[in-house]
Amino acid sequence: MAKRAYISAVGHYVPDKVLTNFDLEKMVDTNDEWIRTRTGISERRILEQGKATSDMAAEAVKKICAAQDMDPMEIDLIIVATVTPDMFFPSTANLVQEKVGAKNAWSFDVAAACSGFIYALEIGVQFIVSGKHKKVIVIGGDKMSSIVNYRDRNTCVLFGDAAGAVLLEPTEDEEIGYIDSMQFSDGSGADYLMMKAGGSLNPASLETIANDWHFIYQDGKSVFKFAVKKMAEVAVDVLKRNNYTGDDLTLFVPHQANLRIIDGAVKRLGIDYDKVMINIGKFGNTTAATIPLALSEAYEQGKLDVGDLVLFATFGGGFTWGSSLFKWGIPKPKKI
Ligand code: UT7
Repeated sequence: MAKRAYISAVGHYVPDKVLTNFDLEKMVDTNDEWIRTRTGISERRILEQGKATSDMAAEAVKKICAAQDMDPMEIDLIIVATVTPDMFFPSTANLVQEKVGAKNAWSFDVAAACSGFIYALEIGVQFIVSGKHKKVIVIGGDKMSSIVNYRDRNTCVLFGDAAGAVLLEPTEDEEIGYIDSMQFSDGSGADYLMMKAGGSLNPASLETIANDWHFIYQDGKSVFKFAVKKMAEVAVDVLKRNNYTGDDLTLFVPHQANLRIIDGAVKRLGIDYDKVMINIGKFGNTTAATIPLALSEAYEQGKLDVGDLVLFATFGGGFTWGSSLFKWGIPKPKKI
């Protein structure tokens, strides 16, 4: 019988340090009311200096190993989705492999901005379905504070730092696991959301630093227009393709970039808000981490049980977007 992939464990890590809207009021010309009403964000977490994406990712994996009573040596593959790798090379996944002691795993990074986790999840699923691997860790992690310009009010209010991870394993149970997914890219979106320097086109120089090209740049309005349309579209399409409607969903876990973008998708799906996981208020946009972080929190809060239908959808830089559909396979935690 063909193998199915299912999510057998979840874990996340957020730094302790909180940066509130009121803190940002002292740094740039902004205010709590504007940020909350335009984005839904009240605060975000900031990782200390000297720590990097791999540290947060490793903590998320350690939580999974502890919860599963799993020796890290059992892990076959580690995939990290990030746009804030510790360094260009080695990959952040390599650094996580070492930090968690997963000596038998091979490891690599995926870069698809806010869609990174959904892209990486699909890769992980295929390695399970093919029968090649039995334990695949997929991580979304970003230290956005390392590329945010805290003098630019257009972007600095939006982002935060976090990591989330899932463990994928094979199952023969047809009632749980991966159902379907869709992924898309449109490179014409490159001009609207990017970090211009540091790569092979504009290596670091005095000029790139003076121009603030090592920080995230976003044409918010243009990105918003695409995001609101495409994230809703792909969420609806993946459900339809599998003969489901919003009524069948237990939980929708959208990318957390802006509450107004989530609103658009929720309306198109025709679902009530009690079926939507929203934690943007506490963490802001943590890029590749938003979906695994929200999923891990949703599970901890008892929002998911075996057999529940759960839908992920995302939109991000590139442009990139996508959606995945699963039947949940982990029993509800006993203590909530
Ligand atoms: O996760 C990856 C994908 N990214 C996204 O999906 C983000 C998509 N974009 C957005 O979420 C929204 O476009 C933003 C939240 C970034 C901006 O919201 P907006 O409603 O599109 O605002 P805007 O850029 O049109 O700016 C409206 C006004 C402008 O002032 P004027 O020109 O009307 O006088 C801005 O200068 O708000 C001003 N503004 C601010 N005011 C107070 C922009 N940022 C701020 C701020 N505080 N932080």
